[in-house]
This record gives sequence, structure tokens and C-alpha cells, in this order.
Amino acid sequence: MATDLTYQTGFRNHFATEALPGALPVGQNSPQQCAYGLYAEQFSGSAFTAPRHQNLRSWLYRIRPSVVQSAYAPMPARYLVTAPSSNAMADPNQMRWDPLPLPTEPTDFIDGLFTMAVNGDAASQAGCGVHLYAFNQSMSDRFFYNADGELLFVPQQGELILRTELGTLSVASGEIAVLPRGMKCQVQLADGEQAARGYLCENYGSPFELPGLGPIGANGLANPRDFETPVACFEDRSGPFELVAKFAGQFWSAQLQHSPLDVVAWHGNLAPYKYDLARFNTINTVSFDHPDPSIFTVLTSASDTPGMANIDFVIFPPRWMVAENTFRPPYFHRNIMSEFMGLIHGAYDAKAEGFVPGGSSLHNCMSPHGPDAETFDKASNAELKPHYQGNTLAFMFESRYPFATTEFARTAEIRQQNYVDVWSTLKSHFKP
Ligand SMILES: [Fe+2]
Repeated sequence: MATDLTYQTGFRNHFATEALPGALPVGQNSPQQCAYGLYAEQFSGSAFTAPRHQNLRSWLYRIRPSVVQSAYAPMPARYLVTAPSSNAMADPNQMRWDPLPLPTEPTDFIDGLFTMAVNGDAASQAGCGVHLYAFNQSMSDRFFYNADGELLFVPQQGELILRTELGTLSVASGEIAVLPRGMKCQVQLADGEQAARGYLCENYGSPFELPGLGPIGANGLANPRDFETPVACFEDRSGPFELVAKFAGQFWSAQLQHSPLDVVAWHGNLAPYKYDLARFNTINTVSFDHPDPSIFTVLTSASDTPGMANIDFVIFPPRWMVAENTFRPPYFHRNIMSEFMGLIHGAYDAKAEGFVPGGSSLHNCMSPHGPDAETFDKASNAELKPHYQGNTLAFMFESRYPFATTEFARTAEIRQQNYVDVWSTLKSHFKP
């Protein structure tokens, strides 16, 4: 299959795309006989009866239906953990980690996954898993799908090629991609890349959507037209292939005699998409005070309580800082929401050092955090001229459910065991 990186634009539009002319039926979904001898197969991401604005499904016209495969057999999940798990422990300690080292042995995306934290309950479709990936081999003869949630890729280093049933996406550092629950894929390195590293949010809950804009109005934050979905692109390839499924917290392996990336045409609104974070229209204060970070929400997964997200995906992108008479970095705070953060590149304005690109931090429900002592002193005494905060791109997975950290996250060498000390030198300035 040639890599066709042509995209259709719009957020969850009802797309229609065919790699061969006439492959899509007109006016119906499942004709008695499909063009080119294709099979019709529906791929549903919502209950059939979901309200129309939340109803997600696509019709796939493929060389063989998905059911042509062997039985599944369990396989070891390595460092992958799913909530709830006895491997994971909720812990109020503030935690921070250095970047995951790149592998030295041949490692593909599946073997290079490490779960850091989980929350909620995958079977109840609430919460998420937060994983890191680091790999140096493209998947070629194995394919993967995840029945436990959709996957939000946040590459930090190395451009990815996501080959999916519905087409191919390239995703570089500074971009994100979302793969629907259940969609088969291969994660590969782009030409010239030796290795890749990044973050992966496995969303067990309702699919990500764009946040409401309220008083902001019709435009701003992530605009729908900037989301990109691949065009249909298929391969007709035979061989001894493996299909790895993540289902109910376990890995399962099945054998395939053909590539499952054999969808010649499809239509519908359930599809993978990518988004360049540089297109985010950042809104910030032009008078005083530091707005709450909800103003930086790119995507949100709703819970059953309005306004309390299952997960918000929030970024801290390059932006002008102009607030007057204001402590400009993030304020000290304690939140009901729990925050897992990562840094894609540059520096984060609440920390002088220790939080580096590829690193992570966790501040759980009601655990206090904020600027470190050095940042506090500097920002409290800075001359408040307009300042362009240019070299930065941090993000947060923010959830209503406290994160439980995995044994790997708690004990790995990359954990900074003395993180809490970054606040220990904040002294009293009280002068009654
Ligand atoms: Fe925070």
C-alpha cells in the first residue's frame, strides 16, 4: 500500500471516501452485492440508539469481513495495566518522572507500552489509562486494536505513521491523533526516524469531542475545520499475520492470513483523526489574573455529570502573557480534578527545572501543587512587560477520577523520588 496522506477536513463529519471509483454504494449501506465483490461491514462506536448528535458509526466496504480470523488466545500484557487493577494504587503524593529511555533492543509499539496510571473502570466505560510508549521498530506483520477505549496519541519525539483500516495518518511531535475504540492499526516510524516516544491516553469513557465555547462564541480553541481524517486506502496482502487485541484489560492474539487494512471505501462519522496543536486558537487574559486552565481544553470526554469531564485534554501552548499586577505562572491550587501532565517540548512556566520534554507529573485529587520555589520568587518580582512564552508545549490529561499509579510508575528509575522537595524552600514572607 502506498502511503496516501490525503486528508478530509472537519471534526466528525459524515465523510465518504473510496480508493476505487464506484466502490461506495449510493443511497444505501448494504446492497445485495457490493461493487468489486466487496463485503459491507458496519463499525459502531455508540449504541444504535444513542442520540443523533452522539451517534457514531461508519460503513466499511472491504475485501474480507473482519470475522475472517483465528480464535483469540491470551498473551502476556507486559507493562500494560487496566483499571481497576491490584497492580495500581491511588496515592496522594505528588509524583514526577524523567522521560522513558528509548529501547536498545528491537521493540515495536505494542512491546514498548508502559502504563503509568489508570482510573475509573474500563468495563463500566469510565476513566482512562495513561501510558508512555517508546519503540524503535515499525509494526509490519502484526496489527492491533483496543476494545477497551479510544486512543489519543501525543507524540513527543519521532514522527508516527498510523496505518488504520480507514486510511493512514502521519503524526509528528506537536500533533495529536485519535484512533476510535476497536479500530485496527499498525503504528510505524516515519521514514528516517530511528525511534519514537510519546504519551498515550486510553479513554475508556465517552469519545472525545470538542468543548462547548460558551461566551467565547462561535470561534476559538480548536476549530473543527482543522481536524484531519484520512481518505480510504487499502492493501490486499497475504501472509502469516498476528492480530493483537486489548480486551477487558488483557492482550489477546489471533492469527490472520491477510492484512485487515483492506477497506477499499467507507462512509460515516466514526474515523481516526489528527490535529496540529499549532492551530489551537489560544484564549488568555488581556487584563489581570491567571485564567483557569479549562480555557486551554482541546478535547473533552464527558462523564455523566455535566461539566465534570471523564478526561479533558488540555494544552499549554506558546502564547502572549500580558496580565498586569498578576502572578503569571499557574497559581498554587488543590483541585477535585486529578492532573497527569507531560511536556512535548520547551519549558513549562510553573517549574524552573526537573520537568523536561518527555517527562511526566501527577497531581491527584486535592493534592496541593503549584510553582516551585525558584519560579515563585522569580515571578513575584518580575517586571510585567508583555512577554511571549514561545518555547513551550505542555499538556494535561485531567480527570474527575483520581489516578492510581502502576507498580512500574511507582518503582521505575525514572521516578523522581524527591519531587515534593521542589516546594520545601518556599518560606514564610508573613509580616504582620
Ligand atoms: Fe494543577
